[in-house]
Amino acid sequence: MKSFYRVRIAGTGSYLPEKLLSNKDLEKMVETSDEWIRERTGIVNRHIASDNEATSDLALKASLKALEEAQISPKELDLILVATVSPDQIMPSTACELQAKLDARHCMAFDLSAACSGFLYGLSIANEFIATGRYKNILVVGAEVLHHFVDYTKRETCILFGDAAGAAVLTAAKDYEESCIYSHHMAANGTLADLLILPAGGSKMPCSEEVLKERLNYVRMKGREIFKHAVRTMTDRCQEALDANQMQLSDIDWIIPHQANTRIIEAVAKSLKAPLEKFIITIEDMGNTSAATIPVSFDMAIRDGRIQRGQNILMTAFGAGLTSGSVLMRY
Ligand code: ACO
Repeated sequence: MKSFYRVRIAGTGSYLPEKLLSNKDLEKMVETSDEWIRERTGIVNRHIASDNEATSDLALKASLKALEEAQISPKELDLILVATVSPDQIMPSTACELQAKLDARHCMAFDLSAACSGFLYGLSIANEFIATGRYKNILVVGAEVLHHFVDYTKRETCILFGDAAGAAVLTAAKDYEESCIYSHHMAANGTLADLLILPAGGSKMPCSEEVLKERLNYVRMKGREIFKHAVRTMTDRCQEALDANQMQLSDIDWIIPHQANTRIIEAVAKSLKAPLEKFIITIEDMGNTSAATIPVSFDMAIRDGRIQRGQNILMTAFGAGLTSGSVLMRY
């Protein structure tokens, strides 16, 4: 479909809970070591939400910063979209909870489940709503409180995940404005769903005593296989973005990859033949925060001055599903 309006990022915001869970803390919980975790994943710390912080609370803090930056009031929003796999509850959506907390008008609000690719899926949907002229201002949030879904007796998974929220406000670009989203490429391969799954708590396997006994209410993962697919799909989505825009890697100022493992990022860099210096890497201090990872990394790099207006940014992610995606924009 022909786009009538170009779409730009008007503002971003992020929030990381105060409490830290370090590798040293994890050494006391499971048989692991700071050295192993650093070498195999690149992670040192994760942020953990407090007992009275739900996903919508984290989302609220990130959203208020993004709205302030965009100079847009919650009343001007046409759509609130929250990408999460750790919603406040199954129903109502975290997006509706957020809408109430923001005191936004009664605009459309819904959650999106695409795991770590969720924020990019959200950008692609928001882009289309604005490009066709249907909506003007959209808040896209990636927010997770994952620690409730992580089994802290399993060293293979508990070392990886943290809690966070990141947000972006998208608006129609004015004619004279250079900054806009150039393209988005999303994909999913449901035949690989079993590689990364939270088996219980839905309609297929409702919560029961058996579920709790077998610890099926926590994330399960085949790490090595995920690793291979992650490298391949993120590389493919990046290449699709470059080809679609007739760009070379030299045209890209920054690449923001999903942060699941430093070695995955290094392997993507190698596979794309891109210098690692082009990558925004935040995993050391926050681990894998699923849908929050990319918007938090984006916001941090904007606020510390690395990302500047007018630069070309390539974002890429993979996640449970298995989903994957890329978004290429001039910020
Ligand atoms: N501490 C010490 N040893 C460990 C730990 C740990 N925390 N975890 C695993 N090991 C051991 C294993 O038991 C195994 O021991 P063995 O050789 O005696 O059997 C050994 O280390 C090697 O295990 P591997 O699983 O082969 O280790 P690998 O190098 O693959 O690293 C890891 C594991 C970090 C999980 C890696 O595979 C990975 O990052 N995979 C991708 C995971 C991912 O991206 N998940 C998120 C997806 S995004 C989303 O949607 C949420």
